[in-house]
Amino acid sequence: MRKTIPRQESLVVPEIQNPFVHRLHLGYLEWIQIIVMSVTIAPLRLLLIGITLLLAWPLAAIAVAFRSEEDKKLPLSGWRKNLQVPLIILGRLMVFCMSFHCVKIKGQYASPEEAPVICVAPHSSPFDVLALFYQYGIPSSVSRAENGKMLLISALLSFTQPVLVQREDPNSRQNTIQEIQRRARTGGKWPQIIIFPEGTCTNRSCLISFKLGAFHPGVPIQPVCLKYPNKLDTFTWTWEGPGAFTLLWLTLCQINSKLEMEFLPVYTPNEEEKADPKLFAANVRKVMADALGLPITDHTFDDCKLMMKARNLNLPMESGLVEFQKLHKKLGISLEQMHEMLEKFSSINLHGKGHITVGEFSKYLQIPESQYLEEVFSLYDRDGSGTIDFREYVIGLSLISAPVNTDSTISLAFEIFDSSKQGYISQEDLYHILHNAFHMTQIDVEELFQQIDQDKDGKITYGEFKAFAQEKPEYAPLFVAYQELKAGDANGNARMPVVKEEDNEVSDNKATDGHIKSE
Ligand SMILES: *[C@@H]1O[C@H](CO)[C@@H](O)[C@H](O)[C@H]1NC(C)=O
Repeated sequence: MRKTIPRQESLVVPEIQNPFVHRLHLGYLEWIQIIVMSVTIAPLRLLLIGITLLLAWPLAAIAVAFRSEEDKKLPLSGWRKNLQVPLIILGRLMVFCMSFHCVKIKGQYASPEEAPVICVAPHSSPFDVLALFYQYGIPSSVSRAENGKMLLISALLSFTQPVLVQREDPNSRQNTIQEIQRRARTGGKWPQIIIFPEGTCTNRSCLISFKLGAFHPGVPIQPVCLKYPNKLDTFTWTWEGPGAFTLLWLTLCQINSKLEMEFLPVYTPNEEEKADPKLFAANVRKVMADALGLPITDHTFDDCKLMMKARNLNLPMESGLVEFQKLHKKLGISLEQMHEMLEKFSSINLHGKGHITVGEFSKYLQIPESQYLEEVFSLYDRDGSGTIDFREYVIGLSLISAPVNTDSTISLAFEIFDSSKQGYISQEDLYHILHNAFHMTQIDVEELFQQIDQDKDGKITYGEFKAFAQEKPEYAPLFVAYQELKAGDANGNARMPVVKEEDNEVSDNKATDGHIKSE
């Protein structure tokens, strides 16, 4: 018998489960083209790209040379600023050489005065930076301070006058926000700041969570949508798929690649959005998702880390993708806890397929499959697929096991097991209950007993019992189920310990009180 519990909308599975893969299949006509181009046009293009970079470098170096420390705090002006015209021309020439013969522009770019920040999505490729050459001027980026020290890059980068972020500095976030605000208030003297708010590359199948950096300053933003409407996708550079150099070469081997940029109307935040960067970010994302016709998901960079962890644990990568930020907010689980849960999950999931079966669940808990076990299992199995995936496991632990695994449940259980009231549980005590409840054999009980009895003195003390219960909270609902079914039998109506999903409204409120850890 399967109990259905009302599901909270916000915990449903995302429409796009893994936007971090790019599978590229080359047909053999494509291979022939690549081989032919590799020995003809592609090297030529690469040479030309090299030349444009070599020409651009001294121009940029001159433009930023011999400035006093004071000057460096001011926007470039006069002849220094005018050098951006040849630089933009060289930039576009480079774009052309990369096989983007005609970049299609829709809409109108705004000036730095109208929109101090440009927000570009979806971010899927190193080629996305080519968008820099199609703005009002060359925009500034927000960049790590270390990048400013790289030769060649450094001159080009400092020409764009980036907002540098010092990773070591604990105030770096605040400083970055203030710097963006300071520049925004100069009425367009500074270049615009370009931000890819997703913070990592996806395969453009959805818009993932926006980081709040671009939205904290509360200034008008111009959203810009990027599209690569090509038959062959030689651009997407995400967590799983071809590397950057492969993609560069494959792109150089295309006859013509299409890139489309759509400039959306400037989005000016209202008072409410200025006060609430999260709301501002969500609304801008909505506008962009509508313009792109893409769904949104709540994936973040943390999911990528969990995905890599899953891979290291020999699980399918997808099993780590749970929309961490959402679960964190709803259930208050930290990233560390999530990593631990993933390890535990992989230790239960012996087959490594990313789904726990009833058999594996029973093996992990060392309890034979029984009515109780199946009941609890089906509570975890939210979509009724017959298996528990990592997401269901995390939600199950939080909503089903943790709420009942309280001190009072544990001590009640201890009392019941300790039927002879000696203050400890002997192996006979344990066998007596477990055999009745779960038809466990003597051998199975012995094995379990050995595990709980840490100091091997033949007695399970309350301390040992509690430690075990806390390590395996999955036991708690089993025990409660057994308890209630027994009580129910007595007065004729058995009932499962269904944890009402309202319970997580409590944690909802807790979370919206604002302790979202990483943004
Ligand atoms: C992008 O990700 C989605 C969702 O995982 C997948 O269905 C799609 O095939 C991916 N696209 C490519 C080109 O790999």
